[in-house]
Amino acid sequence: MIRLNKYLADCGVGSRRQCDEYIADGVVKVNGKRAVVGQTVEERDVVTVEGRRVAPKTKLYYVMLHKPKGCVCTVRDDRGRKTVMDFIDLKARLFPVGRLDYDTEGLLLLTNDGEVANVLTHPSHSIKKTYVARVSGAITESQRRQLEQGVEVDGKMTLPAQVTLLESDGHHTRVEVVITEGRNRQVKKMFQAVGAEVEFLKRTAVGELHLGGLQRGKYRFLNEKEMQYIKGLK
Ligand code: URA
Repeated sequence: MIRLNKYLADCGVGSRRQCDEYIADGVVKVNGKRAVVGQTVEERDVVTVEGRRVAPKTKLYYVMLHKPKGCVCTVRDDRGRKTVMDFIDLKARLFPVGRLDYDTEGLLLLTNDGEVANVLTHPSHSIKKTYVARVSGAITESQRRQLEQGVEVDGKMTLPAQVTLLESDGHHTRVEVVITEGRNRQVKKMFQAVGAEVEFLKRTAVGELHLGGLQRGKYRFLNEKEMQYIKGLK
């Protein structure tokens, strides 16, 4: 139970005092009945102001986690494995945006903003996801070009990607891959399609969000510039 003036303030109707005035003026109804100053409401009650329904705004959180290897990107795991939520000690109910494999590390956004999660993960928005992969052996220019142009993964060609060779000692090669899709195990399968094997995979950026120096297993709230980017997605 919550006092009606606080409930209305939480809905962004005005200050508690202003809300008391609205109640006294008779423009507020609870379940169709004129409200009175000092009354309380419950979550299931239907509250209207001048005939329009109002609902409390939930505070939106955006958290960047450096997901380590050895955990799953779900809120709960029925096999009892460690989840990314084990690294977040916030009371708000957040959920991970998209998935990284159990053995993949790197940037993972967690939020309670479904709209932003949808924009970042829906293929129609073509948000760039940047990965650094360590693959076994060398990658030839022909393989690199194939990866860029598109390879067959699960019976369907991948969309054009940016593939940059970072360094190689002949035994292992570090490659940066930027893709705009988010298909299951996509980067690993792309390399498989050209006969190479990913030994280690890390996501370093999603859109304009960059992992930077955030330590493995640590999280932080997005900064102002990143929040501008997030707001621009809506
Ligand atoms: N591609 C993969 O293969 N694995 C991931 O976790 C993310 C992208």
